[in-house]
Amino acid sequence: KRSWAEPYKIKMVEPVRMISREERQEAIEEAGYNTFLLRSRDVYIDLLTDSGTSAMSDRQWAGMMLGDEAYAGSENFYHLEEAIQKFYGYKHVVPTHQGRGAEHIISQLMIKEGDFVPGNMYFTTTKLHQELAGGTFVDVIIDEAHDPENEHPFKANVDLEKLERLIEEKGADRIPYVSIATSVNMAGGQPISLGNLKKVRELTDKYDIPIIHDMTRVAENAYFIKQREPGYEDVPIKDIVHEICSLTDGATMSAKKDALVNIGGFLALNDEELFKLAQNMVVVYEGLHTYGGMAGRDMEALAIGITESVEENHIRARVGQVQYLGEKLLDMGVPIVKPIGSHGVFLNARKILPHLSQDELPAQTLAAALYVDSGVRSMERGVVSAGRNHETGEHNYPELELVRLTIPRRVYTQAHMDVVAESVEAVYKNREEITGLEFDYEPEYLRFFQSRFKKR
Ligand code: F0G
Repeated sequence: KRSWAEPYKIKMVEPVRMISREERQEAIEEAGYNTFLLRSRDVYIDLLTDSGTSAMSDRQWAGMMLGDEAYAGSENFYHLEEAIQKFYGYKHVVPTHQGRGAEHIISQLMIKEGDFVPGNMYFTTTKLHQELAGGTFVDVIIDEAHDPENEHPFKANVDLEKLERLIEEKGADRIPYVSIATSVNMAGGQPISLGNLKKVRELTDKYDIPIIHDMTRVAENAYFIKQREPGYEDVPIKDIVHEICSLTDGATMSAKKDALVNIGGFLALNDEELFKLAQNMVVVYEGLHTYGGMAGRDMEALAIGITESVEENHIRARVGQVQYLGEKLLDMGVPIVKPIGSHGVFLNARKILPHLSQDELPAQTLAAALYVDSGVRSMERGVVSAGRNHETGEHNYPELELVRLTIPRRVYTQAHMDVVAESVEAVYKNREEITGLEFDYEPEYLRFFQSRFKKR
């Protein structure tokens, strides 16, 4: 097997700062042990998120110069609309400032008080908008998704029995739509298969329930389909992406991931009437329906980013870099979520810190320890991210207690991945010394972003 390298070369560099261990210790204490509250200047390798952190191509930067900054009818909007129609196949486009802007609109338009929204695992902002609209999220992902050791190739598949049971129990009229994410973030960047999605389509057709697609990382999901689903070995990524979208009725997109821009998103819909309502709502919360919170130049960069996101070489290198890091960690014996995900490697904090109970916030603790070791910034995806139950006020205790090492697209080199792996190994070797955290301050919404913690 011959080596292959990134399908690009570097034209501009951004120096990073390296501070001492003592300074990092001080920085994390000041940040209340929350990596979201660190200053980026104190971070050496930033794996907090792959959201808005990717490097744009020279083509995208050239597109930025073509920004048509008209309040209404910007040329760039029409380019964006064309790209979405061509690559994703949805008919109508409502631009938004980012993914949650689209989630807000679709949730308010479709969900009524007392409704249930089934989905293949929750995502933080998606679920919150469903709840704010009066709905209750119901997890209908296959059980394998909750087991970090299970090597099911399509852990984002829907358990069709769970879904049908819910529809029968609550009635189809209480289910405004089924929420289907591609490359499920909270499961560790795991894909849904086309075979499963087709069955979800059949089932929802039977009950006349629409599917709304969280397409934030659809190209990454398509890459795994090409690798793993029989019959798709030779199908181009862009055709797989198109087929996935064709099985759904609309989509919310955080373009800050797959689509390679630093800001932007959209809501895409096939239903004309719903589209009109969304178009009217976007002017209230985001901006006029031909910019929705983005500058003209942002829309141009996004239109080009969509094109690049489905290129075979790009997606192979992108997911390939994540696999490289994951395989290194597996070789070192570090417990991670398997199979390795598409956008990041997820450390199994429960297994790494078995001496900490979930109330001692193992994933939050591990993320802080990793930062102190090397300046690598990661993110908690465990009990802190899961928030509280709205009725009982108790913590939601998810089965997965993970630390996400999220890889920005086209930003870091293989040497950076080596440094990250060595730091994780160092922390892993020293795991028994690590003590837990507790809440010091907890805000009401999406608490993981702004909570502060202290040593127990
Ligand atoms: N859906 C998924 C699957 C996401 O991963 C995100 C964002 C959103 C929706 C919301 O989009 O941030 O543009 O408003 N995920 C980021 C992350 C924050 O770090 O995983 P947004």
